[in-house]
Amino acid sequence: MPIINLPELANRNLSPVPWVDVKYNFPWHDTEFSKRMLSEHLDPTHNLASRSPEVLRAQIDWIDETWLKPGKAKVVLDLACGPGLIANELARRGYTAKGFDVAPAAIEYARHTASNEALPATYSQRDLRTTGYGAGYDAVIFNYGIPNSFIRDDLVKIMTYVRESLNQGGVIILELNSIGYYRKNAGRTWHTVSDKGLFGEHPYLALREFIFDEPNNSAVEFHFVIDLENTRIREYSLCYQGYTSQNIGVLLDECGLKIIAECDSLTGETELKEPDMMVVVANRIEDEP
Ligand SMILES: C[S@@+](CC[C@H](N)C(=O)[O-])C[C@H]1O[C@@H](n2cnc3c(N)ncnc32)[C@H](O)[C@@H]1O
Repeated sequence: MPIINLPELANRNLSPVPWVDVKYNFPWHDTEFSKRMLSEHLDPTHNLASRSPEVLRAQIDWIDETWLKPGKAKVVLDLACGPGLIANELARRGYTAKGFDVAPAAIEYARHTASNEALPATYSQRDLRTTGYGAGYDAVIFNYGIPNSFIRDDLVKIMTYVRESLNQGGVIILELNSIGYYRKNAGRTWHTVSDKGLFGEHPYLALREFIFDEPNNSAVEFHFVIDLENTRIREYSLCYQGYTSQNIGVLLDECGLKIIAECDSLTGETELKEPDMMVVVANRIEDEP
C-alpha cells in the first residue's frame, strides 16, 4: 500500500485505467489487515465484507434448493470464502465443503468454526490465481463481486481451474457486480474513524473515491486514509472489471464453460429494477447432451 503526500493526493489521476494506472490491491493477505477485515465480515449490522446473516441464509437456501439438492451435489468449493460463512453452513446441511481464501485471519476463523462444530469442511489459505483446485466438485461458488476484482486474464485462469475441478454435471455459481452496482457507488464520500476501523487501529480520516468508467464498464475504488496522529496518507485501491451477460458468456466459453441460468440476485430474484448484482450459473460445455 503506497504512502502518498498531499500534492500527490491533490493532483491524482481522476481517470485511472484499472490495473494499468492502479497497481495495488487491498492487502487481503496481510495478517493485520485480515484481522480487521474479519471484524467487518462478522459484523451483522452491515453487508460490507460478508452479507448479513439473514441475507446469507436466503442466498444459501436458494443455492441449496435450486442447484445443490436437484443436482444431488455432495462436494462444494467456495472460492474467496472469507471466514467460511457459506461453506460452513453448507457443511451443516450435510455437504462436504472446501474453501480457499488468501486472508489468514478469515481462514483461521473458518477452520476454528468447522473444528468446534465437527463439520465436514476444510480450508486452505491460498491465492486463487496460483494453481489448480484439484477435482471432484459438484458445485463451485464465487460470490459477492469478487470475480470482478480480478483482471480479465486472471479470471480466465480461475475459471479454467474451475472447469478442470468440476465433476460431470457440476455447476459454477458466479455472483458478479452489475452496472447498477457501479452507478450506485460512483462518487466521493469521507468519514472519520475515532477509534479503530478497517484501515487502522488508530483514529483516521478516510476519503473514498469510486470512479466508474461507464463506456469501458470498469471502475476503481480508492480509500485515501489520513492518519490523524501524523497526517501520513495511505492509499488503498481496488480495480473492477464489469461484465454484461454477453461478455461473461464469451469469457466462460473460452474456459470451456457455458451459461445455463441467469438471475439478478443470489436469492434467485429476476427482473429487479436496477440490480446491484448479476448471477450466472454455468456448467462444462462437454456436459451438454
Ligand atoms: C467480499 S469478501 C467475500 C467473502 C465471502 N465470499 C463471503 O461472502 O463472506 C472477498 C474475499 O476475497 C478474498 N480474496 C481476494 N483476493 C483473493 C485472491 N487473489 N485469492 C484468494 N482470496 C482472495 C479476500 O481475502 C476476502 O476474504
